[in-house]
Amino acid sequence: MARDEKARIAIFGAGYVGLVTGAGFAELGHRVAIRDIVPEKVEALRRGVVPIYEPGLEELLARNAERVSFTLDAREAVQVADFVYVCVDTPSTYSGDADLSRVWTVIDDIGSLDGPRTLVMKSTVPVGTGEKVRLALDARGLDNVGYVSNPEFLAEGTALRDFMKPDRVVIGAFEDSDGDRVEELHAGIDAPIVRMDVASAEMVKLASNAFLSTRISFINEIANVCELVGADVEDVAQGMGLDHRLGPHFLRAGIGFGGSCFPKDVSALKQLAGNSGYHFQLLSAVIEVNELQKRRVVSKLQKHLGKLRGKTIALLGLAFKPHTDDLREAPSLVLASRLLAEGAAVRAWDPVADASSLLQGASFCTEVSEALAGADAAVIVTEWPELRTLISVENRRAMRNPLIVDGRNMLDPDEARQAGFVYEAIGRPASPLQALPETEERTSELQR
Ligand code: UGA
Repeated sequence: MARDEKARIAIFGAGYVGLVTGAGFAELGHRVAIRDIVPEKVEALRRGVVPIYEPGLEELLARNAERVSFTLDAREAVQVADFVYVCVDTPSTYSGDADLSRVWTVIDDIGSLDGPRTLVMKSTVPVGTGEKVRLALDARGLDNVGYVSNPEFLAEGTALRDFMKPDRVVIGAFEDSDGDRVEELHAGIDAPIVRMDVASAEMVKLASNAFLSTRISFINEIANVCELVGADVEDVAQGMGLDHRLGPHFLRAGIGFGGSCFPKDVSALKQLAGNSGYHFQLLSAVIEVNELQKRRVVSKLQKHLGKLRGKTIALLGLAFKPHTDDLREAPSLVLASRLLAEGAAVRAWDPVADASSLLQGASFCTEVSEALAGADAAVIVTEWPELRTLISVENRRAMRNPLIVDGRNMLDPDEARQAGFVYEAIGRPASPLQALPETEERTSELQR
């Protein structure tokens, strides 16, 4: 394929990665066939309806509709494809390893089809997977199919920008010519292209996610110590982030990381190391800190409200981060379950995520004001922009107790307190204990 020639790309998996990759390559002028095994999903996509929430994705697919098709049929997707991209998910198994069953199903699906083409792995896989796939292809006489690892670094909510303007494109290949072909596909994307072997490319992905997770657990532990010694983690993070060796990113303290990637990939790297004979101690701590961090909100609520039985807690935001409807490993789910177990009534609000099938016993509100009405506390779980205006006289009056626990440090503590709220954040000086109308029991407990 000459540099300016457009390619035909089959994409297996119409999830976040597959759809964004497909839309992105179509925008670059390539022809894309996206294959999924769920009939309703394929039907919806053919009608122009994108079954996930990702800003701009529906529009980008619509704009490139003439170059994008959707199918249930693996053969139809692959028949004229120069490249086959594997974009299926690799969730955690009970052991914490990555579940590669969907990846192997794709390999089986395409293994029976002939014609030389390049197989590109976008799914996040353990180091060594490429080697195993190569052996499996060779065993089936498919030594004419090239194998390339091209890990994905897009983040939900900013996925289109991340595809078009990535920090880097990592390409790992067994044969240089296969890597060259995948590099040519990216013509039009202004980013450094980093070439390496397959195992190293696989490791770049796992190590990047593990390191970002480590930064979050680190700053969360700093935040917890800040609370004990009277420092403010927001100032600390700013002061640290200005050191060019550290940088400002992923130093936002909060109630922990979630999503379909960090928890799974940290665990997968830990298990990969363990299976290879190395105990990755640091990652064990990163995981444990994150688990505990989700639960710290409960003790903050108890500090002000005493026993939570019979109290009404408004949970504001459920998605694992703003601008997505993704609830996978969302801290909100652990927090809501803990509150329900303590006997609290949970009123949850999120502008896009629907947790009704996951949180039995909680009630769901379409407006923030509905969640706040008569609540004993409001907890900011996801920093949706809508919550920036939470501090208001109406909202204070609407609540039974004007207590805000800001799990994402998104509000201004002074403004909140001046408006009459009792305000708790993560790693920031706390509001003094006040005898909230409903907490006399707790106050007298403390005085005893
Ligand atoms: C993450 C990576 O950022 C992407 O580069 C990667 O491609 C993707 O995983 C993946 O492996 O597919 P994503 O899971 O969409 O992307 O979300 P992030 O924006 O990275 O946030 C992850 C979690 O960390 C969220 O729960 C967020 O609230 C939390 N977080 C993030 C913090 O608590 N503090 C921070 O400073 C940053």
